[in-house]
Amino acid sequence: MKIAVLPPAALLLTAQLVHWAGGIPNCPYPGPVFPKPTALASSDVIKTALANLTATFNARGEDPATNPNATSWSIQVFSASDPEDDTPVWSHYHTATNLLTADTPGVKSVGGDTVYRLGSVTKIFTILTFLAESGDEYWNTPVTRWVPELELLAGKAQHDPIMNVDWDSITLQDLASHMAGIVRDYAIEGELTQENNQTFLESQGFPPAPANLTPTCGEILKCTRAQFFSGLANIPPSFQPSWTAGYSNMGYQILAYALEAITRKRFAQMLQTDIIDKLNLKHTFYTKPDNALGVIPQGSETQWSFSIGEASPTGNMYSSASDLSRLGRAIFRHTLLPAAQTRRWLKPAALTADVREGIGSPWGVRRIPLRGDGSRVVDAYGKAGSINVYMSLLVLLPDYDVGISALLAGGWPGNSNWDIADAIGAVLVPALEDAARAQADAAYAGTYAAEGLDSELVLSTDPARPGLGVERWVSNGVDMVPVAVRYTLNYNVTAPAIRLYPTGLETTKAGEDGTRKVAWKAIVENLDAPDHSNDMFSTNCGTWVSQTTAVYADMPLDQFVFTVDATGKAVSVEPLALRATLVKNT
Ligand SMILES: *[C@@H]1O[C@H](CO)[C@@H](O)[C@H](O)[C@H]1NC(C)=O
Ligand SMILES: *[C@@H]1O[C@H](CO)[C@@H](O)[C@H](O)[C@H]1NC(C)=O
Ligand SMILES: *[C@@H]1O[C@H](CO)[C@@H](O)[C@H](O)[C@H]1NC(C)=O
Ligand SMILES: *[C@@H]1O[C@H](CO)[C@@H](O)[C@H](O)[C@H]1NC(C)=O
Repeated sequence: MKIAVLPPAALLLTAQLVHWAGGIPNCPYPGPVFPKPTALASSDVIKTALANLTATFNARGEDPATNPNATSWSIQVFSASDPEDDTPVWSHYHTATNLLTADTPGVKSVGGDTVYRLGSVTKIFTILTFLAESGDEYWNTPVTRWVPELELLAGKAQHDPIMNVDWDSITLQDLASHMAGIVRDYAIEGELTQENNQTFLESQGFPPAPANLTPTCGEILKCTRAQFFSGLANIPPSFQPSWTAGYSNMGYQILAYALEAITRKRFAQMLQTDIIDKLNLKHTFYTKPDNALGVIPQGSETQWSFSIGEASPTGNMYSSASDLSRLGRAIFRHTLLPAAQTRRWLKPAALTADVREGIGSPWGVRRIPLRGDGSRVVDAYGKAGSINVYMSLLVLLPDYDVGISALLAGGWPGNSNWDIADAIGAVLVPALEDAARAQADAAYAGTYAAEGLDSELVLSTDPARPGLGVERWVSNGVDMVPVAVRYTLNYNVTAPAIRLYPTGLETTKAGEDGTRKVAWKAIVENLDAPDHSNDMFSTNCGTWVSQTTAVYADMPLDQFVFTVDATGKAVSVEPLALRATLVKNT
């Protein structure tokens, strides 16, 4: 199958009509366009960005809009390449001035190890526990296979799908990605009869609550498992399963029950063994820890200490910024899960009404356009939490193996955790891209040649473009750029561009001389193609469809294998189809 192409005459005409400076933007493969940057502390562009962040957050500590007298925060930026787990790339800790005079137990000064409540950031731990125990092989099985109480309820939906949840059609993945179509909570949050008396509710226009449908457990008296499921029998669904996104805390409680059925172990014990102990998270807890470890704002002892009982897998956990960073590094380093499974996990499972948002398990996916022309989109995987006076956030940027952990306690304006990510991201993400490009340039840019063959490859980087640019590509005296264009695009073009992108493929063991091999994939494109940015179905960015359209004797024309030395610098390259090793000029 070929993508549709215009005949050259039409192409030229259209190109002239819609032409603007530079033509259409490059279209990279989705994902990182340079190797993930390392040794961030020694990168000048990162240093500048971090100095800016420190100044910005010092100013936030004085800004009445962030309520700094009543709000404490612990924030870190971490990288998988951090040499020490306890030394993040950047950190900022602010202690609310009124914490000093508070008569609560707990710390008087917050730092990386201070324990906060996580709220829904707990869901990351719940999914990780699930994946660490049983992988994702059961992801698409119906929840009724694992939770007998739901199997009993499932049949009723056949007769009345409006008032009964079709549990047989809900998979574990649906629960994890908020696509089950079930309501948000059972009784623990949002059940008005739990929060107000009848007199008051009737004055608000509600009829008397039917006694047989009013939960007798929930916020104060926690529901047991049996009460939870017998209550669920009464609750109608929100949507059909897999119809649309609708956040559900309850889904995570059920997911933990399913995991217990799969493994025949207790959830809390699995979490402790598989995640907390394995990563040595000394400041992470499923239930309330020693008060002395926590930040407890004035008047908030109850908010600090109350348990959400059976609903705990959805939001009861406690942790520190340092431990969240440790967890993030472990995700990037594949300490807990195999690499391919981690990458599968860090992909969206569903979309939302926001064109730049997706949903994972439990991630919210944010698509960040780095440049206005659309030639680079960075995907961020974030999970926020909020539980009374505590707010939390973990953001992962897999393109750089860098993340942000942020914890807050006290009184703040509503969006603080995301505001913090916005403020950090605006400065950090462009700097990370720049640092990655600079490191790729230092390692790969230059001229590669094969003596006696008249073969050459010249690579460079460009701050305005993704990947490594092929400036010149000659094989046995023949200019390979038009040849690659001909075999990839099948038509003559006026603005050919070839750029190389990471593939993740590399030899893990170094050779005796300390070298390793790293594969890159080319994209061959025409920047004078007609602009489709305003078209409904056509796209400027469909290059992933034309990967490896040309193969020469089994070897892809677009695959380049570099040999890099022990310091990561390229020493030679083999364009696989051309069977020649071109050595880098130094
Ligand atoms: C940080 O960088 C941004 C963007 O370059 C700039 O607008 C802002 O003024 C800087 N802030 C500080 C405190 O240097
Ligand atoms: C915070 O407290 C200090 C004194 O402790 C006071 O001068 C300042 O006005 C307070 N700021 C806000 C925003 O309330
Ligand atoms: C019912 O709730 C209202 C509003 O919270 C309160 O003013 C009232 O005293 C309560 N009545 C009883 C009987 O508890
Ligand atoms: C492409 O260009 C080559 C060399 O200029 C020419 O021989 C060939 O006819 C062109 N092909 C098309 C389809 O225009």
